[in-house]
Amino acid sequence: MGTMCKAFVLVVIALVFAIPSRACAKEKHFEQVRAFLISKAARCTSCHIAAQSGKLNAYGERIAGLPNDDPLADRIAALESEPSGMADAQERRRAEKNRDVDGDGVLNWIEILADTNPADKDDKPTVDRVKHIEAVISCKLCHRATNLPGEGLAANPHNEFGELLSTTYVKRSGRKNPRGPDAERAAAERTQILTRLSLVRKNRPKKSKATYWQKIRLLHGPADPDDNPSREELRSFKKQIKRQKGRSKRDPNLGLSADAHKPDGFFLDAAKLD
Ligand code: HEC
Ligand code: HEC
Repeated sequence: MGTMCKAFVLVVIALVFAIPSRACAKEKHFEQVRAFLISKAARCTSCHIAAQSGKLNAYGERIAGLPNDDPLADRIAALESEPSGMADAQERRRAEKNRDVDGDGVLNWIEILADTNPADKDDKPTVDRVKHIEAVISCKLCHRATNLPGEGLAANPHNEFGELLSTTYVKRSGRKNPRGPDAERAAAERTQILTRLSLVRKNRPKKSKATYWQKIRLLHGPADPDDNPSREELRSFKKQIKRQKGRSKRDPNLGLSADAHKPDGFFLDAAKLD
């Protein structure tokens, strides 16, 4: 093979690997936000056979079966993630089984957000509830659309919340901060997505009583002005968050708030979220 040709082959290989890895980096945004929502909505019994038992149910076993040195955060995200475009038929079947451990036709993450048990095939949400969760907790949290013709952000335009996150980064006092829109966007891109969500946790859309983050937690489209939680929904959510922060009145069966589960991996970026 001539040197020209070798160089060409190398460029092609580089491109083939560069394109999916960029796409993957973006899908990480979604996977990390989703895993964090799972960690908040889950009950001990989503993963354990009983609230005060260390013993795992089928879903918990599947998570425990992933490489054990990986943080729980990463294992939850990995179990729920879609197979990559390069996966073969066998890998796809395995991913499908992992994503719906009880085989009731509803993915684990949707069951957890809907407060049904991902390890019990007789417990699942209604079709309407599934559709609603899939529609809201999607790329549409931050994008008006994805995969339109074209490339990059032209093909995946942001909504107002995505726009906000795309210019959110940690400002450091006494250090040189980025100047101009391009430098700001680059600084944002280097900031973990859950860190960015923490930084804007108090921001709210115009005319909304709920913050973007409260809307997401309550499964309402953060940038959809026609989809808002009711006053009562918001009030009881705020109360619940407050209770969970205290030691005495909190529900000990909720989330990952057990001594056995100190936040790890990318969940640490979200220390200040809710
Ligand atoms: C998203 C799934 C998930 C949720 C929710 C969850 N756990 Fe776990 N838990 C696990 C896994 C998986 C392990 C096994 C250790 C590992 O693989 O990291 C574990 C381990 C434990 C252990 C240690 C058991 C042992 O024998 O060492 C205790 C105790 C525990 N969990 C208590 C709780 C409590 C209490 C809650 C609710 C507040 C809870 N867990 C919520 C997945 C979960
Ligand atoms: C929590 C918000 C959020 C979610 C959810 C999200 N994105 Fe994004 N996305 C962003 C932000 C912000 C950027 C701009 C780059 C950056 O700042 O990291 C971006 C950039 C992108 C880009 C790259 C455009 C470029 O610069 O070339 C693509 C492609 C993309 N997202 C696709 C998706 C897809 C597909 C999903 C669903 C699986 C998704 N995103 C979910 C926030 C999000």
